[in-house]
Amino acid sequence: MNNLIIRMKEVEDTQKFAEYIGKHIENDVFIALTGELGAGKTAFVQGLAKGMGIDGPITSPTFTIMNYYDSKIPLKHFDFYRLETEEDLYQIGWEEYGSDGVVVVEWADMFPRLLPPESIYITIEKEEGNARKFHISWNDNAPQKIIKEITDYAACH
Ligand SMILES: Nc1ncnc2c1ncn2[C@@H]1O[C@H](COP(=O)(O)OP(=O)(O)OP(=O)(O)O)[C@@H](O)[C@H]1O
Ligand SMILES: [Mg+2]
Repeated sequence: MNNLIIRMKEVEDTQKFAEYIGKHIENDVFIALTGELGAGKTAFVQGLAKGMGIDGPITSPTFTIMNYYDSKIPLKHFDFYRLETEEDLYQIGWEEYGSDGVVVVEWADMFPRLLPPESIYITIEKEEGNARKFHISWNDNAPQKIIKEITDYAACH
């Protein structure tokens, strides 16, 4: 596993970082988000969607489990929080939905077995006030282009 840490001071930093990733996405990407309630997972997805040119409100899929946004590369925003078992996810069509496009999952650590080898893992650690520490990790199966963008971003933030 490779990893790096990026520190955010405010919600705007989180959204700018996510927007930067969204702007540079050209292929399928799977982002597995972890972090306690209110860490900023949905805030991250809002920035990501903005960067991908998706406008309109990005709301939490806590109850719908998945929100789909049509775009040049479609965005599938999952939230595993309310799922009891992996079976619940297969019921709503994980296998058809889960594979291509940009897939972002909140509470991804609930079902680690469902995460593909190319996953980019982002764990958001809450710190004092609005500060957040982003722990980002991936292995060699992750899409190299976007990893390079993330590493470049980290180098100057
Ligand atoms: N640096 C930061 N990054 C992200 N969010 C921040 C930051 N500082 C403050 N916040 C605030 O924390 C809250 C994060 O809420 P958000 O819904 O994104 O959390 P979440 O991780 O998705 O929670 P949940 O587990 O309930 O889905 C927002 O109100 C946001 O404005
Ligand atoms: Mg959320």
